[in-house]
Amino acid sequence: MPCPALPDGFDFTDPDLLQARVPLPEFAELRRAEPVRWVPQAGNIAGFRDEGYWAVTRHADVKYVSTHPELFSSYLNTAIIRFNEHIERGAIDAQRLILLNMDPPEHTRVRQIVQRIFTPRAIRALEDRLRERAHNIARTARRRSGPFDFVTEVACELPLQAIAELIGIPQDDRAKIFDWSNKMIAYDDPEYAITEEVGAESATELIAYAMNMAADRKGCPAKDIVTTLVAAEDEGNLNSDEFGFFVLMLAVAGNETTRNAITHGMHAFLTHPDQWELYKRTRPETAAEEIVRWATPVNAFQRTATQDLELGGSRIRKGDRVGIFYAAANHDPEVFTDPDTFDIMRDPNPHLGFGGGGPHYCLGKSLAVLEIDLIFNAIADALPGLTLAGDPDRLRSAWINGVKHLMVETG
Ligand code: HEM
Repeated sequence: MPCPALPDGFDFTDPDLLQARVPLPEFAELRRAEPVRWVPQAGNIAGFRDEGYWAVTRHADVKYVSTHPELFSSYLNTAIIRFNEHIERGAIDAQRLILLNMDPPEHTRVRQIVQRIFTPRAIRALEDRLRERAHNIARTARRRSGPFDFVTEVACELPLQAIAELIGIPQDDRAKIFDWSNKMIAYDDPEYAITEEVGAESATELIAYAMNMAADRKGCPAKDIVTTLVAAEDEGNLNSDEFGFFVLMLAVAGNETTRNAITHGMHAFLTHPDQWELYKRTRPETAAEEIVRWATPVNAFQRTATQDLELGGSRIRKGDRVGIFYAAANHDPEVFTDPDTFDIMRDPNPHLGFGGGGPHYCLGKSLAVLEIDLIFNAIADALPGLTLAGDPDRLRSAWINGVKHLMVETG
């Protein structure tokens, strides 16, 4: 049955929608009435069958799409964006070199190379250093008198330091990574006023930077990701383009998402004081996963159907774009009791904030959960009386559920 509550022309990839309200009430309507809905869009690029995409909103269907790469390919680009005259074929082709946009067997080959760097055990080895950093970040913020921006002073620091350390980027260059990664993501946002061209330039600069690091490591190996990737290149398991794009993806993925989870988490705590009090008293391990469910920093990704098939009562055709909306799945009442309640004790919590469990499941999940856990522990110790000093200033984006600024006071 078509969803009566959705006006024609409603598009879940409209960047203004995410900026205005999250979670979108329209997701609830769709899950109920038309869980796999065709959303027409003006403009397309060669490769996809038609102008538009299927919006998949139920938890079970998002999982199904994610875990069947043979039916739903990542090859034609996974970022669910509005194609327009600015997005050129060449840019889409280049993105094929990113792990996220690969299908097996390429995906399996590249993922295996870096999988061991991100095991829970390897990440635990970083824990003490990251804990110290988290405490330093919170103690530094405590010295602030008057309102300050939680995003720039607190939320962005730990993810940036952690990913830079893993990749092997020296302290002095870390601000560059932050800047490049912001520019690649923020091309829809008027405050940054960054065009796709500036985003592409940042990508080129970051890749060139990574290539220089690789050249340095050849004579002088270190304990970092670049060294692991250079070894894989020497063994013929990775080509140099894949190397560059892998570093680029890590720099973005390790930065933006976790920063947004931490900011949304802080906002959720400060607007749910009972949960903040509970957190400070009990520090439950379940809190980080609930923050990711609640925040869903990546609103959606997309796949392309490899054959005609049926999903959720709709007939999908080969070559159709299929949008998997994690933000909708994470509020599915079929799976979550009181899905619109922020509950840090929620357990089990099978949210899809890190993906639907298929081969592309977030590589950095253990690291992200650890960072969220460490920073909120540090904030609870050093800034227990933090209060809001303004509303979140949201990023204008089609697929990143981001916050640019959140003013707070130490209280
Ligand atoms: C993939 C979310 C943190 C690295 C993904 C995917 C999502 C996601 C939704 C796609 C999964 C799929 O398509 O099935 C998040 C969130 C994070 C986070 C919400 C923080 C709260 C990180 C961090 C890193 C990272 C810290 C790296 C240090 C990656 C990589 C992939 C990925 C490399 C691609 C994996 C592949 O294609 O095989 N992430 N992520 N992520 N994430 Fe994360």
